[in-house]
Amino acid sequence: MFDAVFAERFEALLRWRRDVRHFDARAVAEEDMRALLACAALAPSVGNAQPWRFVRLRSPGIREALVAHVDGQNALAAARYAGSDQHAHYLSLKLHGLREAPELLAVFCDERAEAGHGLGLATMPEMLRYSCATAVHTLWLAARVNGIGLGWVSILDPQALGALLDVPAHWSLIALLCLGYPSEHADSPELERRGWQAREPLADRIFER
Ligand SMILES: Cc1cc2nc3c(=O)[nH]c(=O)nc-3n(C[C@H](O)[C@H](O)[C@H](O)COP(=O)(O)O)c2cc1C
Repeated sequence: MFDAVFAERFEALLRWRRDVRHFDARAVAEEDMRALLACAALAPSVGNAQPWRFVRLRSPGIREALVAHVDGQNALAAARYAGSDQHAHYLSLKLHGLREAPELLAVFCDERAEAGHGLGLATMPEMLRYSCATAVHTLWLAARVNGIGLGWVSILDPQALGALLDVPAHWSLIALLCLGYPSEHADSPELERRGWQAREPLADRIFER
């Protein structure tokens, strides 16, 4: 099913998947959004618990509140660099596309997911959250292969987001995502291109015991 040509294309997909913060004005078709969510739901999960809960953010009021919240949190984050060489550099980075992305999606983990009957959670309950992260990555790749960019926004207070979106208290925030058509393509991270942080040698990240 997966021949050498596919393997090569798949490797290109991984290389060209990007965190996207610059979107053009094109809308994402409703059937494409649904197809992406269906792909995300193919992700693995502990005990097959499928603890992901996807909240599509459709209301302009919620978008405005999110932009204000994330910009505020970003200003606080920037203040941590005040007085250092990195302060101006940090301020120059674009760290979300919440204003322009046509689709906004919040991904939560249902910490009380009934599916899976708790299998695999006895010693590591955080596996539910890791399962949701696999769904985000699956969504990310599915989006990219369809020409749609995804940007993960984490400069926020998860409790505040849960309250804004009025989700159950036992849903923990995994990701706030911007989706849309990217206005640029690159085979390297934006943070690398902007001189913040390059990819480091893989050999430094592999250990043997
Ligand atoms: C868990 C997670 C949270 C992230 N949060 C942010 C964020 O708040 N703002 C942002 O601009 N990028 C965010 N990113 C994107 C990373 O900066 C990006 O993945 C990294 O620089 C590598 O670039 P690439 O994804 O294009 O390969 C996040 C990525 C992950 C996996």
